[in-house]
Amino acid sequence: MSELLPQVQVNAFRAKAAAIEHPHELIVDALRAVQAHHGWVPDAGVDLVAELLGVLPVEVEEIATFYDKIFRRPVGKRVIHVCDSICCWADGGDAIAAHLQKVLGIGFGETTSDGMFTLLPTCCLGACGEAPAMMIGLTTFGTLTPEKIDAILDGYRNEA
Ligand code: FES
Repeated sequence: MSELLPQVQVNAFRAKAAAIEHPHELIVDALRAVQAHHGWVPDAGVDLVAELLGVLPVEVEEIATFYDKIFRRPVGKRVIHVCDSICCWADGGDAIAAHLQKVLGIGFGETTSDGMFTLLPTCCLGACGEAPAMMIGLTTFGTLTPEKIDAILDGYRNEA
């Protein structure tokens, strides 16, 4: 098993890339696999994906830095993406962002000292009808209030 990706996945990506005409299609999946295994995508992860798929490292890097759900630096166990687009802003998103920063004791781009949460801004999550919204991992939470946020964070802390 590689530190970046289990050998079975290394073999699988190599085989899939060899079998298709456009291996670039696999870049996001391969980056997500590295991230799922390693927690984030270091430079060596970009190089590994490029080598497995037979593409240039810069082509992998372009995609890794385009998607805000691919992390090129270490992050906490749970990453909180807070929407800062128009609907959420109009429905009190600033107060939600301020509450999160206060209760977590960190600013945007930072990770709590216990390594539990990283806080990041993001553009529209597609939950405008439930603004203000945030996403933790792959779960979206809407109609946020300070009380609701506290309960959500407690839920994650209690499962840790
Ligand atoms: S503007 Fe926040 S979810 Fe769309």
